[in-house]
Amino acid sequence: MHPTRFELISSEPESDILSIELRVQLPANIVDLPSLWQAAAVNNLGRRLKCFLRIMLCFISRYCYITQTSFMDLQSTYQHAIKFAAAKHAAINQTIPGTQLPYVVHLSNVAMEILTAHAAEPIADINFTIQLALLHDTLEDTDVTFDELQQHFGDRVAAGVAALTKNKELPKTDRMADSLARIKNSPKEVWVVKLADRITNLQEPPKHWDKPKKEAYLKEAELILTELKGANAYLEQRLHQKLTDYQAYI
Ligand code: NI
Repeated sequence: MHPTRFELISSEPESDILSIELRVQLPANIVDLPSLWQAAAVNNLGRRLKCFLRIMLCFISRYCYITQTSFMDLQSTYQHAIKFAAAKHAAINQTIPGTQLPYVVHLSNVAMEILTAHAAEPIADINFTIQLALLHDTLEDTDVTFDELQQHFGDRVAAGVAALTKNKELPKTDRMADSLARIKNSPKEVWVVKLADRITNLQEPPKHWDKPKKEAYLKEAELILTELKGANAYLEQRLHQKLTDYQAYI
C-alpha cells in the first residue's frame, strides 16, 4: 500500500460499482492522484476503472468541501473584523472627512478594493489582508491598543496594523516616510492595504482644502506608488489611474 491516507475498505461483485466502498482521507491541500490510482489497482481493468472513477468522485466532493470551507472562513473573518472596527470608530463618532458618512464606509471601501484586486491577481493570504484592511485605522484613530488587537486578532494582524499607523510623535512631514519604511519591512499583504487605502482616499477632496494641501496629498500618493512598487500590479494600476483623475480637483 502506498503511504498515503486512504484505504479500500471493501468491494462487492465487480459488476456493481455502487457496492465498492471507499474511505478517503486526504490531507487538506495534498492530493496524490498517482497513488490514488495505485490504490484502485485491483485484479482487472474494468474494476480498476470503476474504482478510479469512484475515487475521483470522492476527490471532487472533498475539493468542493475545502473550497466552501475556505470561503466561509473569509466571510467569518470579515464579519469579526468589521464589527470590531465599526464599533471602535463609531464610539468616537468618526466620519469620513468632508462628509456625514460613518467611518466604516471607508473601511469597507478599502476591503472592497482588496477583494477586487484578489480576483484580478490573487493575494497570498487574503484572510490576513482583509483583517488589515478593516482594522488599518484602529490604532491611529481610536482608543484601541496594540495589546487589544493582539488579543482579538493575533500577533501578525497587530504588527501589520502598527506598520500602517503613523507615528504621531514625529514631525508631520516625516510621518509618511517613516510609515512607508515600516510597511516595506512587512509582508506584501501590508503593502497592498496601503495602496488600497490611498486609492479609496483619492476621491473629491473636502471643500476646505486649499491648492497646496491638495498638491501635497497628490505628491504623497505618488510617493506611496513609487515606494510600494511590486506589491500588486492591479492595485498599482488603479492607484496610477486615481492619481491622473485627481489632477482635475487641483
Ligand atoms: Ni484609511
